[in-house]
Amino acid sequence: MSRNILITSALPYANGPIHLGHMVEYIQTDIWARFQRMRGNTCYYVCADDAHGTPVMLCARTEGITPEQLIIRVAEEHQADFADFNISFDNYHSTHSAENRHYAETIYRSLNAGGHIHRRTISQMYDPQENLFLPDRFIMGECPRCGAAGQYGDSCEACGTTYSPTELKNARSVISGAKPIKKDSLHYFFALRNFADMLKKWITADRLQDEISNKLDEWFKAGLQDWDISRDAPYFGFRIPQTQDKYFYVWLDAPIGYMASFKNFCDRSGVSFDEYWAPDSKAELYHFIGKDIIYFHALFWPAMLAGAGFRTPDAVFAHGFLTVNGQKMSKSRGTFIKARTYLKHLDPEYLRYYFAAKMGAGVDDLDLNLHDFRERVNSDLVGKVVNIASRSAGFIHKKSAGRLAAIHDGQAPYSDFIEAGQQIAAHYEARAYSKAMRCIMALADQANQYINDKQPWVLARQDGHEQEIQDICSTGINLFRVLITYLKPVLPQLAANSEAFLNCSPLQWHDIAKPLADGHTINKFKSLMTRIEESRIQAMLKDSSPTTAPIHDIPPIAQQVQFDDFAGIDLRIARIIKAEHVEGADKLLRLTLDIGTETRNVFAGIKSAYNPQDLEGRLTVMIANLAPKKMRFGTSEGMLLAAGPGGKELYILHPDDGAHPGMRIT
Ligand code: MSP
Ligand code: ZN
Repeated sequence: MSRNILITSALPYANGPIHLGHMVEYIQTDIWARFQRMRGNTCYYVCADDAHGTPVMLCARTEGITPEQLIIRVAEEHQADFADFNISFDNYHSTHSAENRHYAETIYRSLNAGGHIHRRTISQMYDPQENLFLPDRFIMGECPRCGAAGQYGDSCEACGTTYSPTELKNARSVISGAKPIKKDSLHYFFALRNFADMLKKWITADRLQDEISNKLDEWFKAGLQDWDISRDAPYFGFRIPQTQDKYFYVWLDAPIGYMASFKNFCDRSGVSFDEYWAPDSKAELYHFIGKDIIYFHALFWPAMLAGAGFRTPDAVFAHGFLTVNGQKMSKSRGTFIKARTYLKHLDPEYLRYYFAAKMGAGVDDLDLNLHDFRERVNSDLVGKVVNIASRSAGFIHKKSAGRLAAIHDGQAPYSDFIEAGQQIAAHYEARAYSKAMRCIMALADQANQYINDKQPWVLARQDGHEQEIQDICSTGINLFRVLITYLKPVLPQLAANSEAFLNCSPLQWHDIAKPLADGHTINKFKSLMTRIEESRIQAMLKDSSPTTAPIHDIPPIAQQVQFDDFAGIDLRIARIIKAEHVEGADKLLRLTLDIGTETRNVFAGIKSAYNPQDLEGRLTVMIANLAPKKMRFGTSEGMLLAAGPGGKELYILHPDDGAHPGMRIT
């Protein structure tokens, strides 16, 4: 009986690009969706951008655009990345949408009516300069335990301690640099503990992986805490009904985005929303997520749904994190690889296959070892699978004008291939993709072995073996067709190219029981997939590396000085009130500088880097107590500070907004 399935991937944040870590999840989910559809099931796969929250708001502010403008641009970028990785969403929406507002409000109202929302005043860190409450990640200071500097407000990366931001020493707002103060405000809480019984039942019924059930047991033992679902203005999100300035916390409306995206899809396609979300729904619902967001999906989300009268998910499937060459992705090592950067250099199917070949049903991390990546793809896909087609097709065209002979489907090796399909399908269903890939590659070995044993190229040198050659190679082509069918959830593009070559309709799982018909004509063999060149990988890494100056261009640090030496230099903010060329000087500009109490005449060697008129009115920094220097054109009463090696490459310093002439630099 055909199944009705709705699946989701976690919604990526709208303040950053998609990277290869994300792709673990979207590729895992997409393979499952494509597999289900090939099996004849109905499987809808929806996703959306997670558009709300403080980071999105601040990111937009930094770029000088509105959050709405930012999320529109990022949505386009995300969708282009996903499309080019062949992720087959049925719908991609946004949490900043009418549908999401509707369901967020509906669910909130139900929870409130059910007595599951409490209000209480709490005290939190507040940036008095920017006038906003600071999320933990926007506060930095010294760890209260080990004293390490530059730690976030929630935990120390040096010693692993977790703490509250009020405990941080010398705390500073990351946004303004101001010292945060404590401030009271009214917050709204979701009473998770009201759902303890419901959740205990929900998490046992085979819905979660073992590692996750264990984690949840710990959380249960620690006690279910109220969940703070409100944030104060300014906040980019949905205002909470019946409040003036309270907004839903981004994580409240994020999972509701799954429903919103599906609703948006239903309204366009005529599919019934209730069939999938009503409490008595017979459809299956699964969420694919990373292991970092289990709490939200296995506790808050089912509780919210149950409390608001919707069905709960059948399961949550968590996966581990991506490492590159055995280490956490790192910008400085060039292994923080954006989806777009990968796509510029390499075929998406390589990565889809490599991830599949390494992905199991558990929450283990997955390593992208770039050496192994290249070897594996080249030897499995190009060396084994595609090779079967290329070595069979030549003879079929030369000896039988592209026509296949009938093959015996009840006979080995074809019958073995069909039989293996059950096991492979079971592996896909269980998300044990690495096991599925191993089975498929074992079959590919078997097919190559079959051709090796039959040696059609030897027969071709003698007369009278035409029929035998056609039989062997027709078997080869049919085995290839079965393999491509099994690989199609992972490699949709290779499958499409192969369907064109085989001259057959889109491959479905159940079609392969029957081989291609007697006399079926195949097309000329064209390269179906090329090998990965090492140079492509290197180019991708180079493209992912930070663009800093080559290290040899950076001068070494000068000899150490004592503090008093520095304190003896009087640096001041100066305004350039006049800048002019100096007759006969090819490097110098004459500057008139206002330093608050007086004006100075300074000759600066910045002529090749700046036009005088571009300098007038600007603030900069000068040494104010340098002994005057007599020059050919006059006396220079101080020195301007600029960075860079010289010539065109010189950058004068510019203070932050608020500084004014005469201020001393300390
Ligand atoms: N916006 C939230 C999810 C809301 S779902 C209602 C979020 N976004 S995210 O952009 O940070 O991550 C999206 C998904 O990608 C998450 O499931 C996350 O676990 C996964 N990954 C992000 N980085 C990853 C790796 N480096 N490796 C594997 N998966 C990773 O969380
Ligand atoms: Zn510490």
